[in-house]
Amino acid sequence: MNVYDSEQMERLLATMNYRPTLHQEKADLIIINTCSIRDKAEHKVYSHLGRLARLKLKQPNLVIGVGGCVAQQEGDRLLKRAPHVDIVFGTFSISRLPSLIRQVSQEGKQAVDVEPTGTVEPSHIKPTDFQEARATAFVTVMRGCDNFCTYCVVPYLRGRELSRRPERILEEIRHLAAKGVREVTLLGQNVNSYGLKNGHGLDFPALLEAVNDIEGLRRLRFTTSHPKDLSDKLIRAFGRLDKLAPHIHLPVQSGSDRILKRMNRGYRRGNYLARIEKLRKAQPNIAITSDIIVGFPGEGKTDFEETLNLVESVGFDNLYIFKYSNRKNTPAFRFSDKVQEAVKGERFARLLELQSKITLDKNRALVGTVQEVLIEGLSKKGYDQVTGHTPCNKTVNFSDERLRVGQLVHVNIADAFSHSLLGAPSECCGKLPGEKGGILHAA
Ligand code: 5AD
Ligand code: SF4
Repeated sequence: MNVYDSEQMERLLATMNYRPTLHQEKADLIIINTCSIRDKAEHKVYSHLGRLARLKLKQPNLVIGVGGCVAQQEGDRLLKRAPHVDIVFGTFSISRLPSLIRQVSQEGKQAVDVEPTGTVEPSHIKPTDFQEARATAFVTVMRGCDNFCTYCVVPYLRGRELSRRPERILEEIRHLAAKGVREVTLLGQNVNSYGLKNGHGLDFPALLEAVNDIEGLRRLRFTTSHPKDLSDKLIRAFGRLDKLAPHIHLPVQSGSDRILKRMNRGYRRGNYLARIEKLRKAQPNIAITSDIIVGFPGEGKTDFEETLNLVESVGFDNLYIFKYSNRKNTPAFRFSDKVQEAVKGERFARLLELQSKITLDKNRALVGTVQEVLIEGLSKKGYDQVTGHTPCNKTVNFSDERLRVGQLVHVNIADAFSHSLLGAPSECCGKLPGEKGGILHAA
């Protein structure tokens, strides 16, 4: 969501004739878009701001802005801790960024805007010319969250759930598809409640169906669906919509009913497992990933064993594991039975070890198969490799002398690692059904 918000900022800044630069020392304006979901993310903001203080000493005209959740949470306090910052703007204030910049440059005064008011619609939905050619994009469909999980800051910093209008979402995706984007990921803290409160006339499965019809778009993803709200209608969409990629991120957080209750998750382990079974019935190839918090207050040995057991029995394709981080103003902040850091560390390592084995086994099972890969850019590893994802969202790197961002190609999987697959370049070339133009190494 922060990536999407940063792109919004870039679009707004383009209207003021700002251009992006790769060189920090050349910038007239630097904005840090912040996250405060865990304390680690928050610490990073302050260490980055420390480095920018030195840059500002050399370049006093540099304007520094801090946006996002840390800005929303800290407001004026941020200026006390980092007096070289010029603008503090929260999660509701993105559309007001141009006027805040004008205020700073014209009046020379610091500006703080953390008012929790504003529209859910972004001001600019057309990508700018200098937003480089890319194959994939995020599109936020709703903001905020009404769930109040006891560990989470999101409802306090991003406010109540608000859905964007379907016409505006579809228009934005059409613009992206016209610019060459082939895959979009629809974003929301809980996409399954899209449209339910606002009465825009479409629920989430209906929105997916409308996006599925957009010409030029080849793949569709969404995140995140809350297990308690994952409807049968949405599950059926996996079997019905040809562009909906067979992957779902379904955060379980814990395998223990006692902990799930204390987290206020609104489902039990049994409900979660039943949803998984239904998903696999609707789409047998579906990849399932999840989030887990280890060391939530009160998590005992048996609770953690239940998490290990759930992870083993579901067999997730991948898992994001987090150590519980105590966040101010959340109900869990006041829970007295906190788990020691060392114990959190041990549990983190045990779960990671288990999941790494499962992920590797799943990846190895793909060696020798042919996968459809959407080319997204150069691989991090080297200039002769390109990178992309399979429909199940596995990263594939493979050698190629050409880079055709946005092409769908068939790739032979030659090797598997815990975080990626290696594709073998093959001899023959051809087209995928419906694909215009030639493609790289089609198997
Ligand atoms: N501590 C640790 N992890 C957290 N998450 C959210 N809040 C916290 C917290 N206080 C994790 C959850 C969520 C993911 C985005 O971040 O697992 O699904
Ligand atoms: Fe946070 Fe829970 Fe909302 Fe997710 S569903 S954003 S974890 S409160």
